[in-house]
Amino acid sequence: MSEPIAVVLAAGKGTRMKSDLPKVLAPAAGKPMIRYVVEALRAAGVGRIVVVVGYRAELVQSELADEPGVSFVEQTEQLGTGHAVMVCREEIERLAGGESCPVVIVTGDSPMLQVSSVEALLKEFRETGAVCLVGTTHKDDPTGLGRVVRDAAGEFLAIVEQKDATPEQQAVTEVNMSTYVFDSAALLTSLESLTTENAQREYYITDCPRILKDSGAQVRALAALKPCEALSVNTLDDLKAVEAEMAKQNTGQQ
Ligand code: UD1
Ligand code: CA
Repeated sequence: MSEPIAVVLAAGKGTRMKSDLPKVLAPAAGKPMIRYVVEALRAAGVGRIVVVVGYRAELVQSELADEPGVSFVEQTEQLGTGHAVMVCREEIERLAGGESCPVVIVTGDSPMLQVSSVEALLKEFRETGAVCLVGTTHKDDPTGLGRVVRDAAGEFLAIVEQKDATPEQQAVTEVNMSTYVFDSAALLTSLESLTTENAQREYYITDCPRILKDSGAQVRALAALKPCEALSVNTLDDLKAVEAEMAKQNTGQQ
């Protein structure tokens, strides 16, 4: 299997950040969030990184201009996380070069992404032969996040967004942190089945694991992510929480 590639979702404006900067450029401890993500991917051995840009794309591109192995795809309209990956089809095909390769998908607003987690997911992906692996974690308060639904035997069934979840599903505390590994060919096939039939009328990347599972392929969810990685940034308060966690890790308190 050829070398992994990554897709970083970074096209959104981040309305709740109350800033004209694209959210992924908001600095955490003095460094734009997306840089932490790109650096973690590279440290985990992912050298080819596709960044999906949209809102003020040129700012994100110039910030990352000195990063090796990074290419950009523009998503002119933000029609959802699934759509953000759809616009990368040609770039994924180009990088995969006619073979299948692992595609790591992450978001640019999760600066706590751990190198060890990306490594663990890639290792599990290779060892199990799954076509899709969903990195998860448990949160005492999962409000707002996609819930990971499993069957009685503990096998992955689906990711259900908060706004689409039944009360029973909302009680689930295992959450999706938008950290996935897909087989490139399976990913591109599953994207063809995405629809906007959901509460937000968006194309959800979170539907791709279920589509693959329903087709009979092996899809797994692995609680490989550290609790600190559940700190994705939507608000200024989230950013403060990330900076506090970074300070804690730097002083080795953990
Ligand atoms: C997403 C997941 C949810 C997960 C949560 C935190 C979906 C449908 N839901 O929800 O299960 O718990 O993240 O990881 O994926 N983006 C684009 N283009 C778009 C839409 C989004 O590039 O058209 C980017 C945003 O800039 C952001 C990231 O994707 O960096 C996540 O988007 P966001 O709208 O914040 O997703 P959530 O609603 O948080
Ligand atoms: Ca988010």
